[in-house]
Amino acid sequence: MKPFEIAKNIYWVGAVDWNIRDFHGYSTYQGSTYNAFLVVDEQTVLIDTVKKEFSDEFISSISSVIDPKRIDMVISNHTEMDHSGSLPRVMHRIGEDKPLYCSQMGHKNLSRHFPQKWNYRTVKDGETLKLGKRTITFFETRMLHWPDSMFSYLPEEGILFSSDAFGQHYAGPERFDDEIGEAIMPHAKKYFANILMPYSPLILKLVNRLTEAGIELKRICPDHGIMWRENPGKIIDAYVAWSTQAPARKAVVVYDTMWHSTEIMANAIVDALCREGVYARPMHLRNFHRSDVITEVLDAGAVIVGSPTLNNGIFPTVSDFMTYMKGLKPKNKVAAAFGSYGWSGESVKLITEWLESMKFQMIEPGVRVQYVPDESGLDACLDLAARVAAALPPAE
Ligand code: FEO
Repeated sequence: MKPFEIAKNIYWVGAVDWNIRDFHGYSTYQGSTYNAFLVVDEQTVLIDTVKKEFSDEFISSISSVIDPKRIDMVISNHTEMDHSGSLPRVMHRIGEDKPLYCSQMGHKNLSRHFPQKWNYRTVKDGETLKLGKRTITFFETRMLHWPDSMFSYLPEEGILFSSDAFGQHYAGPERFDDEIGEAIMPHAKKYFANILMPYSPLILKLVNRLTEAGIELKRICPDHGIMWRENPGKIIDAYVAWSTQAPARKAVVVYDTMWHSTEIMANAIVDALCREGVYARPMHLRNFHRSDVITEVLDAGAVIVGSPTLNNGIFPTVSDFMTYMKGLKPKNKVAAAFGSYGWSGESVKLITEWLESMKFQMIEPGVRVQYVPDESGLDACLDLAARVAAALPPAE
């Protein structure tokens, strides 16, 4: 993808990764982009870089706009390698002694990734950097989502370079929100659920901070996916809603099954929930990727987990999902467990312990059915669904 101007003398110089399908356990079935930006002023600054594999393309993109040697400084908003992987090539090309601006933690973390003794300039929250006609203001955004993360804001243009925040793993022909419309929101939601959900309280604080600072946001340019220029407020509002995780009358019934018994139970629970006016869906863990399930969990009020007992434990895919979900710290959920078993039947107890450890409000007892659910087993599933529905907010 060739560079293009996003505002007068401000260029997108990133790379499009059409083929990436896994981002450390997150299914990126629509690829991704690594957005980087060149602000040409009296002092020219490069904001972020791209994944190492795209270094050649990146240098060539920059060169089509400006001789790389004319870049006066680099800003690293975030150390993760999808944004810093090309730094060695870039610094070598533009001059190893050029200033490299980053947060204090950025300095520490970049130094742990790269042995080069670059000319680091650490900046604090609120510090500014004069480029000429324009200024950069730095906002520290620690733990959104790494300790080094920060935003760079260009007040004269109202542009926020927001690093990973407000991004999406999406590769397509579109570059801006007005070109893709509502279709980008599921990707933004999935990105939030899989990367930013654990930091929801910090996001709410950050949005308050930006509001209190009275900064004008004409554009938000994240480091992945679509940039927001038509309605930047839309993604801010969505982040507030997703961070709040207000209980909703929605349930995700996530399960795996060996001989369809746990599946029959899952479907019975979903049917009963729907009859109770709950928006519910079953998600079989060998048909839905964990990152898509967690996206549904984000705005669900209930998570109901089912597993057969296998070798005195829970099914491997269910363990995988529970580990993933626990790390992402969803909040404000009611939860329940169910599953079939042959002789020992530990799965419901084990799932219940997992869910309790996530501080979910447990609906107990869960439902255990030996071998194949009969009428009484199915009745127990309907009863569980009714108890879950009663614990959710009433239908509007
Ligand atoms: Fe897109 Fe946290 O890196």
